[in-house]
Amino acid sequence: MSTQQKQYEYILLSRPAPGVGLITLNRPKALNALCTPLFKELNEALVDLDADDEIGAVVLTGSNRAFAAGADIKEMKDKTYADVYKNRFLENWSEMTALSKPVIAAVSGYALGGGCELALMCDIILASPTAVFGQPEINLGVIPGGGGTQRLARAIGKSRTMELTLTGRNFSAAEAASWGMVSRVVEEGEGKVVEEAVSMAGVIASKGRLAVQAGKEAVNAAYELTLEEGLKTERRIFHGLFATHDQKEGEHGCIELWGHSWLMRVAQACPLSQRRGNPLGSIHRFATVKPDPRKQLYTIHNEPTAYRRHDMLRIEGGRLNLSYGYYDYPGISYTM
Ligand code: CAA
Repeated sequence: MSTQQKQYEYILLSRPAPGVGLITLNRPKALNALCTPLFKELNEALVDLDADDEIGAVVLTGSNRAFAAGADIKEMKDKTYADVYKNRFLENWSEMTALSKPVIAAVSGYALGGGCELALMCDIILASPTAVFGQPEINLGVIPGGGGTQRLARAIGKSRTMELTLTGRNFSAAEAASWGMVSRVVEEGEGKVVEEAVSMAGVIASKGRLAVQAGKEAVNAAYELTLEEGLKTERRIFHGLFATHDQKEGEHGCIELWGHSWLMRVAQACPLSQRRGNPLGSIHRFATVKPDPRKQLYTIHNEPTAYRRHDMLRIEGGRLNLSYGYYDYPGISYTM
C-alpha cells in the first residue's frame, strides 16, 4: 500500500510541494502527547516516505499550540519497572534516526519532554517564536528517556543541559536559537514555520538524492566519531560520490529539446526542475545560453556563482551532455 493510501489515526500525511512529505501530529486533545500507537504510526510513515522515490525530504510538525507535550503521561503512570524494561519502552523512538532522508522539525507551541526529544531527533529544527522547549521530566520524578540528556548535551553543551534537566525549566525559541539548538526562529504567524520548513525541504529535495543522503551521513558522523575518524569518513563519502555519474544519467535521463525555445523546454522536462517546483529548475540560475551550432557547444552563462565555469550543455554524437556544477549528466538523449 502506498503512503498516500494508508489511513492513520494519530497523524496526517500530505505532500505540500514536489518532493516533500509532510507529517502532522494529530492528537489535538492531548497536545500531541506521544502515546505508543502514535509513535508506531509516525515510524511507519517515516519509513514509507524514506523508501518513496518521489520524496526527497520530510517535514514533521504538530499544531500551532503544541508540537508535542511529551510522552503520554496517562499511558506511563501505571507502568512498572518490569513492564518498561521487558517491553523496551521508548526504544523504538530513535528508529527515525536511521532514515536516510532529512527530516525537518517545524516547531510551534509546546515541545516538552518527549516532544523536545522528538525535535532533537530530527536533522534540522525550525522554530516559531511561540515555541516552548523543555525537559520537565524531573517534575514527574523521572528523567528524559527519549534521548534528551544525550542529544541536548551535544546540541547545547553540558552546563545548560544539566540546568534544564535538573530544574525542569522551559526555554524559549530565542534561547534555543542562541544556543544553536534550532537553525532559526521564523517570523511570527500561524503556519509560518511549516511554510518555511516545506520551502527548505523543497530546496533539499531538488538536490541530488545521493549527495543529500551522503551529506546527512557525513554530518551525523561528527556526533559519533573522533575528528580524525570523522574527517576520514567525510573524505571516503566525498570520494564515493565521484562514482555516481551513471546514477545521475538515470535520474535525469528524460531531458528533451525542441527547436528554438529549447532552454525552457529542457527545464520543463527536467525531473529536477519539477521537484524544485521552479519552471527553470536545476538550471534556474542560467541567465543566457549561447548556442554555437558549428561546435555544437552550448555554453551557459550563469549568474555569478562558484560553478559558472563548469556549467555547459554539449551535444556530441546525437547526445546531450549537461554539465552542471561539479556534476556531469552524460549522454542524455534529446530531439531537435
Ligand atoms: N501526556 C498526556 N496528556 C497530556 C500531556 C502528556 N504529556 N500533556 C498534556 N496532556 C493533556 C492534558 O491531560 C489535557 O487533557 P485532558 O483535558 O483530557 O485532561 C490536555 O492535554 C490539555 O492539557 P492542559 O489542560 O494541561 O493544557 P495547558 O495549556 O493548561 O498546559 C502544558 C499545557 C503546560 C503542556 C501541560 O499540559 C503540561 O505540563 N503537560 C505535560 C508536559 C510534560 O510533563 N511532558 C513530559 C512528559 S514525560 C516524557 O516526555 C518522558 C520522556 O522523556 C519520554
